[in-house]
Amino acid sequence: MKILVLNGSPKRGKSDTMHITRAFLDGMNEVSQNEVRIIDVIDKHIEPCAGCFSCMRNGGDCIHKDDMRTILEEILESDLLIWSYPLYCYGMPAPLKALLDRTLPLSSMAMRKVGERYEHVGQADFSHLRYLMICGCGFPNSKHNFEPAAAQFKLCFPNNHTMITVPESPMFNAAEAEVVTAPRLELVKKAGKEYSETGEIDAELLSEICSPMIPEDQYAEIVNGTVK
Ligand SMILES: Cc1cc2nc3c(=O)[nH]c(=O)nc-3n(C[C@H](O)[C@H](O)[C@H](O)COP(=O)(O)O)c2cc1C
Repeated sequence: MKILVLNGSPKRGKSDTMHITRAFLDGMNEVSQNEVRIIDVIDKHIEPCAGCFSCMRNGGDCIHKDDMRTILEEILESDLLIWSYPLYCYGMPAPLKALLDRTLPLSSMAMRKVGERYEHVGQADFSHLRYLMICGCGFPNSKHNFEPAAAQFKLCFPNNHTMITVPESPMFNAAEAEVVTAPRLELVKKAGKEYSETGEIDAELLSEICSPMIPEDQYAEIVNGTVK
């Protein structure tokens, strides 16, 4: 399988979230060796969408001649897209959002009603794609935090999507937290294996992965330097 990882963290390989993503890929690669390509989005030249809609009217040709041309090709050649990013202001970091906006050339102006919502009719065939969101964040709470990012992901990719959201993720880069992060990454690896085998992650396993690693108030005390 061809996997394209869109790493939205400006910290590149040092990203807290990428610890989760790498563990997931390790699990997937245990089942079969996949062809994985990681794009550090921060290093790419991606102009913000100009909003002219010319790409939707003229067969997908964008007015900007930047790295998005190659990235769109790479997206279409992939089987699985992993959106790996830290939660920023309840959404995705701006460079990754610019990339998402610039996928507009894959759609045409025409719209159709699907259930209760409308979506654009594709001008490229991306029906084979599966989508995985892996999102880390700095607060210990998932509720009142991840919802906007999760809602956006579901609306953008209504089919074949899976979401992993992990609170307290700066702990993945703290050696002293290994006692709790190592077992969590083992669970993520297990999820990667399961996803590779069945295309899904067991709901109980997913809920365990998405729960805080240490109690919320204890985490806040550590961050605030008020641990007694
Ligand atoms: C600009 C900015 C906005 C952030 N917004 C949120 C937020 O809305 N909720 C949250 O829990 N953490 C927030 N954080 C914390 C990051 O999500 C957290 O530090 C994360 O672990 C960074 O992951 P990374 O190392 O993969 O980039 C924010 C951090 C920055 C720099």
